[in-house]
Amino acid sequence: MKVLITGVSGQLGHDAAKVLTARGVPFLGVSSKELDVTDRDVVMRIIREYCPDAVLHCAAYTRVDQAEHEPERCMRVNADGTHNIAEACREFGAKLMYISTDYVFSGTGDRPWETDDQTSPLNTYGRSKLTGELAVQELTEKHFIVRSSWLIGEHENNFVKTMLRLAETHDVLRVVDDQIGSPTFAADLAPLLCDMLETEQYGVYHATNEGFCSWAELAETVFRLAGKNVAVRHVSTEEYCAKAARPKNSRLSKSSLDAAGFAHLLDWESSIARVIERIS
Ligand SMILES: NC(=O)c1ccc[n+]([C@@H]2O[C@H](COP(=O)([O-])OP(=O)(O)OC[C@H]3O[C@@H](n4cnc5c(N)ncnc54)[C@H](OP(=O)(O)O)[C@@H]3O)[C@@H](O)[C@H]2O)c1
Repeated sequence: MKVLITGVSGQLGHDAAKVLTARGVPFLGVSSKELDVTDRDVVMRIIREYCPDAVLHCAAYTRVDQAEHEPERCMRVNADGTHNIAEACREFGAKLMYISTDYVFSGTGDRPWETDDQTSPLNTYGRSKLTGELAVQELTEKHFIVRSSWLIGEHENNFVKTMLRLAETHDVLRVVDDQIGSPTFAADLAPLLCDMLETEQYGVYHATNEGFCSWAELAETVFRLAGKNVAVRHVSTEEYCAKAARPKNSRLSKSSLDAAGFAHLLDWESSIARVIERIS
């Protein structure tokens, strides 16, 4: 198997490249400099020339609040860019793995979302990722759509890094306590994605670390494990007033992973100490 990774300089792309390197799987990792997914000609050329068996499409516009200010740019990357990748995969016969998000759901209720539940994104980023999903489903049969949530890697910005940075200058931080989901460590998710790519068990999956928490609980865990003396003031989504609306219930059911015989990831609490150690 030969793999093309888009967005290789991002959190997940970086860890996927590490896994493929460790497994001795040949791959080409490209950042936006080598392959801007919005440029259809470049996408076609690179996939034609490298001729991968599989494309792990990690590239995305991921600035959720900023997307409300520049929705066209977000749509261009996540929807049109994914359309280009899917078209090229169909044209040159490659499997496609598209990484999607819990933000395709509205966040009502408190039961974990099944893969075939009604999608209804609340913000521009979620709508753009859902449009990307639809393009993948429409254009190529050989696809995996893997929805994850609250991604945390060693590289690039994420919630844990932000908390550790703010801990240097704050004694008290306001953190939202009514959005519930699963922190997911890129280093845990990447090996599962690479396992899936070896198969032909196409379809829609949810893949996150096990267990649920709020952002406030996650922040408290980070400060406790990192030995930072910061108090977390719990606030509601409404009080926090972020630019983009976010789902309150981001719990994702893993029943499709079970049905296909893929293993679950570790509980988020058992991975977080390792992640903090690496980030620090
Ligand atoms: N972060 C989360 O909490 C989260 C949660 C659920 C799902 N996801 C999904 O998981 C995937 C990986 O997320 P991540 O956190 O690893 O993202 P990330 O760290 O923001 O990395 C995304 C990468 O995409 C690249 N990119 C942006 N625009 C591009 C373009 N026009 N052409 C090519 N590359 C472009 C960026 O590369 P440059 O720096 O070179 O521009 C960046 O390195 C994404 O599909 C995301 O939607 C993320």
